[in-house]
Amino acid sequence: MPALDRRQFLKLAAALGATVAFGCAHVRPSSSGWRERRDLFPQGVASGDPDHHSVLLWTRRPYADGRERATLLVEVAEDPAFSRVIATTAAPVLAAADWTCRVLVGDLPAAGEYWYRFVDDEGNGSRIGRTLTAPAPDDPRPARFAFVSCQDVCIGYLNGYRRMIFEDERAAPEERLGFVLHLGDFIYEVVAYPDQVKNGRNFDRVVTFPIRYPKGKRVARNRFWVPDSLDDYRVAYKAYLQDPDLQDARARWPFVCIWDNHEFSWNGWQSIQEFAGTDGWVPAQTLKVAANQAWFEYQPARVLPPGAKLDAFNAPNVRDVPLKATDFDDTGLNTEPNNLAAIDSLIIYRALRWGRHIDLLLTDNRSFRSRDPGNHDEINPLFEGDTLGFVPEDLWAQLDGGRAYNNGNPPAKLVMGDKSVHNYVAKDPPQSMLGAKQKAWFIDTLRGATATWKVWGNSLGTLDTRVDPQNLPPELSSKWKGKGYGLMTVYDWGSMYHERAEIFDAVRDAGVTGLVIVAGDRHSFWAGYAAKALPPAAPFEPVGVSFVGGSMTSVGSAEVNEYVQKKDNNPTRGLYIAEDTDGKPQCTENLTLRHGVRSALEYEKTKDVQKALAVRNPELAPHLEFVDNGGHGYATVRCDAETMVTEFVCIPRPVARAPGNDGGPLRYRVRHEVALWRAGERPRMRQTVLEGDVGLSI
Ligand SMILES: [Fe+2]
Repeated sequence: MPALDRRQFLKLAAALGATVAFGCAHVRPSSSGWRERRDLFPQGVASGDPDHHSVLLWTRRPYADGRERATLLVEVAEDPAFSRVIATTAAPVLAAADWTCRVLVGDLPAAGEYWYRFVDDEGNGSRIGRTLTAPAPDDPRPARFAFVSCQDVCIGYLNGYRRMIFEDERAAPEERLGFVLHLGDFIYEVVAYPDQVKNGRNFDRVVTFPIRYPKGKRVARNRFWVPDSLDDYRVAYKAYLQDPDLQDARARWPFVCIWDNHEFSWNGWQSIQEFAGTDGWVPAQTLKVAANQAWFEYQPARVLPPGAKLDAFNAPNVRDVPLKATDFDDTGLNTEPNNLAAIDSLIIYRALRWGRHIDLLLTDNRSFRSRDPGNHDEINPLFEGDTLGFVPEDLWAQLDGGRAYNNGNPPAKLVMGDKSVHNYVAKDPPQSMLGAKQKAWFIDTLRGATATWKVWGNSLGTLDTRVDPQNLPPELSSKWKGKGYGLMTVYDWGSMYHERAEIFDAVRDAGVTGLVIVAGDRHSFWAGYAAKALPPAAPFEPVGVSFVGGSMTSVGSAEVNEYVQKKDNNPTRGLYIAEDTDGKPQCTENLTLRHGVRSALEYEKTKDVQKALAVRNPELAPHLEFVDNGGHGYATVRCDAETMVTEFVCIPRPVARAPGNDGGPLRYRVRHEVALWRAGERPRMRQTVLEGDVGLSI
């Protein structure tokens, strides 16, 4: 039975900016006269955010004859030949929405497989898409989905999707994926034009130039172009959706999408842009709204556009007003009215249910996040002369915690080695990724979740990137100015100590079990445990399991290190990269993060994994089971009443489009299996390498 009656459902569709169609009991053959004309629907079709009785469908049918609107017929069928059509409706496409079309189809049976297509008034048809409805909330069948992120099409090829399609087509029907969870960086707004790329290459990649912005602006001292108008953002989506692998994937599964940074701006937060090599905040309220509008137009998602105009995004009128450092409120939100209007123009945090076993909670980590406390000039004196680049854990805890550090007693000075600066965050609130409103919603929803597994779809990883430079050999140890452990990176949940603890404490206190965090952004595969803190600062008390999926295409640090870690005069090179006995570069950074600096340096010296593991630091990373900073591909998740299994499907560096239909050979497939734990117990995972060579990752 549908959860909503028809009147409520019509209201919902209108609020979502979608035309509505209803499934009916009397199926009949198609009479639309559909003839496929993919050229007239150049971005293909898509579906998104299914629930157990409805799903959003999407296409784009542009017209260039001066008209402002047209009408498409949409057909939904129970078979790919459309001999059993279950729903049809007429849906407008508007120039004002860049000719994109959204249809919410309701009254569909749960756990169904459907095919859909769009036809214009001359019988020209889109390609055929396939979609699925969710199992009913009490349906005990196992649930499966894939998660992906970071798909820069200017520097790589989406072979991961090809592999995913290849495997799904060959899987038993009950083992097929229910949806694809896209965790952000669906587009990269930052592009290089030919004159900005040396020798046409970027690391291992031959750069291509599928995007040329109608307006655009040059940034970062003319190193890149970024969008400077709504049309610019639209151009990026249009270019991406012409990729055949992405288009085939969107036509095969419903997608559930959230954004990360690149859907708006590389270093963007709230409605602010920042660009490498240039000073200051660039007010970008109008571009934040434009980015949100383009996302809304191109991603079929259950998110509410501003206003109630059918099929079009009523963009709020904002101006690019500079934000002042003094205008942040008590939760880190800048209260400048145009900033608030811009970031509120599209709220994408939301929850979806998939059968009995998955409550999926999705957060927005960029629109509401507070100022990065490490991104202040005041800190620079501490790092003068530093060549390691690690941040002491205790220093970062002071920066992250602000006035809340040490139960409200922050130190007056920030200290590193023999250097100190005044504690410029001593009066600031702790860092927030989610902002107060979203965090309240998130914790509430998490507490109330009733599915076996609570999956937090999150663009940013939560696992600490901890390192132990205090264990460097004597000839290098003077490089480390901290006292104990350090962090390799400080920008994501792995170093958002205060807010992460708030969330994990709420999970523990409410007795929530089955918390699974899936993330992207790091361009690397990680598996481990969700714990708010690591010994010796606090006991190790994980409240869930945490995964990061490798990038679809975007360059990972293993590849970067092959270029930037010079062989001469670089005594710490072995912490990142070392050649094996065949002279092939291996990602020793994985060893540094998982086993410690001694293991990485031992491998560099002996090229022997066993010898490297013999000198591991067992205290470094109780939270990690797997790290591969050189992996690309995707991950799958399978949940049932007792077990959750995540598989990392790692493909070779995607520097060329795989010639066959299997996406190329696999590098490895590794599985982490977690039994459901009870409140008060700690989760544990079992690792199995199913095929291939995981190198230095375990
Ligand atoms: Fe990315």
